[in-house]
Amino acid sequence: MASERTTPRLAVLASGRGSNLQAILDAIDAGRLDARVAGVFGDRPGALALQRARDAGIPARGLRPRGFASRGDHDAALFAEVAAVEPDFIVCAGYMRLLGAAAIAPWQGRIINIHPSLLPAFKGLDTHARALEAGVGEHGASLHYVTDDLDGGPVIAQARVPVQPGDDAAGLAARVLAVEHPLMLTTLQLLCAGRIVLRDTAVEFDGVPLEAPLQLAANRLEA
Ligand code: GRF
Repeated sequence: MASERTTPRLAVLASGRGSNLQAILDAIDAGRLDARVAGVFGDRPGALALQRARDAGIPARGLRPRGFASRGDHDAALFAEVAAVEPDFIVCAGYMRLLGAAAIAPWQGRIINIHPSLLPAFKGLDTHARALEAGVGEHGASLHYVTDDLDGGPVIAQARVPVQPGDDAAGLAARVLAVEHPLMLTTLQLLCAGRIVLRDTAVEFDGVPLEAPLQLAANRLEA
């Protein structure tokens, strides 16, 4: 196992229930992910995600946007706190606010987001209802690098689920969430091991540019 000093440090950004954060914490505890969560940050001080962090003895900070003159000011204050824990990677796991270019720029290639759709389909909110409305046969989740193009950064990996007859948005969301967690963990393992890197706009896996996102199959990522 890597020493404390070389163990990759993660900062997690979350606004809500924090099931992805919990999956990360559980995987670290179980020795399935060689990383350390150095801090959890969000825009809603009462979020369950922040409580989960505190319960695990991890510093957590919620900064309400109200009281800041602009979105940029809020981003800057939040990211100053993020930077203070010296993360190797920033993981947006259900952080529900847009991030401005100025906040993201210093972290290019080191900030990722999980989004509940097969990007580039269904960027933005209410992805499950929109997938049902569109009548797609397949839905899922994407892990991508964050850029100032909302949900538009280079996609690293995806996990797919079938849409079944009679699905409603809640049922479909639950099916997607079940694959989001292994998608998050397997991708983080590769990132933390330095096997996935961003070069300009291309995702490289073991030094080779990906032509298409990696796909999760049986809890492993495949090209
Ligand atoms: C997930 O569906 C994620 O894809 C989306 O927000 C949700 C966060 O869930 N970005 P949780 O807070 O990790 O439970």
